This record gives sequence, C-alpha cells and structure tokens, in this order.
Amino acid sequence: MSTETENPKPRGSIPRFLDMKKRGDKIVVLTAYDFLFARLVEESGVDLILIGDSLGQVVLGYPSTVPVTLEEMIHHGKAVRRGAPHTFLVLDMPFLSYQVSAEDALRNAGRVMKETGVESVKLEGGGQGACRAVEALVQAGIPVMGHIGLTPQSVHALGGYRVQGRDETAAERLRHQARALEEAGCFSIVLELVPAELAREISLSLTVPTIGIGAGGDCDGQVLVLYDALGLNPGFRPKFLKRFGDLDSDARKALDAYVREVREGIYPGPEHSFSREP
Ligand code: KIV
Repeated sequence: MSTETENPKPRGSIPRFLDMKKRGDKIVVLTAYDFLFARLVEESGVDLILIGDSLGQVVLGYPSTVPVTLEEMIHHGKAVRRGAPHTFLVLDMPFLSYQVSAEDALRNAGRVMKETGVESVKLEGGGQGACRAVEALVQAGIPVMGHIGLTPQSVHALGGYRVQGRDETAAERLRHQARALEEAGCFSIVLELVPAELAREISLSLTVPTIGIGAGGDCDGQVLVLYDALGLNPGFRPKFLKRFGDLDSDARKALDAYVREVREGIYPGPEHSFSREP
C-alpha cells in the first residue's frame, strides 16, 4: 500500500482550483516538455503544468500542432512527470486522438493516464463531439480541461492564428461552448485569443476556472508556452506575449564563449582536467 511519503500528493487539485476561483486567487500555469525544465517550473511554484501539444512546434519543429502523435505526447508526458513529481499535470490530447469517437477518446486518454501518471488531459473544441468525449472521460474518472477560442489543432479550418469571438455570432458560440463544456464536466477551460471583455464575461458566468492566453487579465488563471515566457523564441511576437527573460541571448552568449574557448585552447584548462593522481 502506498503512503503519503512514498507517493506525495500533487500541490494542485481540482477542489483547490475551484477554491482559488472563489477566492479570486489567480491560477498560474506554464507548459513544460522535458525533465529539466519541468523541474525548474515545479520549483517556481506554479499551480499547474501543461504538457502542451505546442511541443510539436517548439520542441519538434513541426509547422503546427496537427502532426503531433499520441506517442510523442506520452513520451514527453513521462519526462515532465519525472521532473515535476509534485505538480498537477495536464496533458494535451493530440489531433485525432479524441475526435473520431468518444470510445476512441476514452481509450487514448486512458493510455495517457496509465502510461504517464499525469492527473488530467486537455482537449480542444466545444461542439457536440468534444462534449461527448469530455463526458465519456469524466464518467471514467479522468479529469478534463477544455480549450476554446483559437484552437490550434483547427488552425487550417479557422484560417490562421487569429482572435476568435469578435463578432456577436462568434461570441455567442463561445459562450455556448463554455457552458456546454462546464455541463459536460470540464474542471477548467482554456480561453485562447479571445477579446478581454468576452473572456471576462465567460469567466464570470462559469463555476469552473478559466485559464487565459491572449484573453486579457480577467480570466481566473493564465498560461504561457514556457519558451515564449523565457524569451527563447524571439521571432514569435504576438501582442499578448510578455517575455519574462531573454534566454535566447543568454544561450547565444554562452555558445559563442564555448566555441571561442575551444578554438583558442582556453577550455578545458587544468582545472577541468584529470591527472593520474586522484
Ligand atoms: O499546447 C499548448 O501549449 C496550449 C496552450 C497554449 C494553452 O494548448
């Protein structure tokens, strides 16, 4: 039988996220994709880590999240679990791992839960198909985070990475999707690239917390892609993004120094070399 010492509880939990919303405490979320960064992010004290399928672009170099496979998500999910053993983890279900049928969604989400040890999964969309998948997962005991607004797996159907819900018909669709996902059992909903006033209205109308990205300051929490927040991806400059560091310049400086020192015979010096005497 496992004890709390062998298997410590994650810092976050669904009741805690609901309480945070009630108290007006912001829920802080970042993505992570590997062991070392997951450890750093856990130590920063965030409330939740998302193993986003954005890893397709920022880790694997795909042009969008569409090509990401379930195997790739599971592979990275396991690494993040090892780096962040105490944080509540959400793993993105990749494109076509939940859209075919609710049964397929349950089989794939079940694999994710068993093989990675994450606490929950996220899926995109708020239509009937997505809600049926959410219901099937929730009934099986799998916590689900929803994701509406700009849903990157549908980027081609949406005509690009653009703000959603600007006209009244689109705004009403988002309000409806948010309600439907809450009713289907989502414990939280990501609002991506949504006008701030609409995101505020949706957040106030729901019992479950909203997590915004490009959705203004009135969502119940915020998420950013880790490498964007750290300034590792300087070519990516959407309006909503604030860089909290400049890791791109730091990495370039370090790499220039390494290349120069090896070429000039400075590194390795005697202090980095072994002698025959211990
Ligand atoms: O894949 C991802 O990183 C995401 C967040 C941007 C919400 O879905």
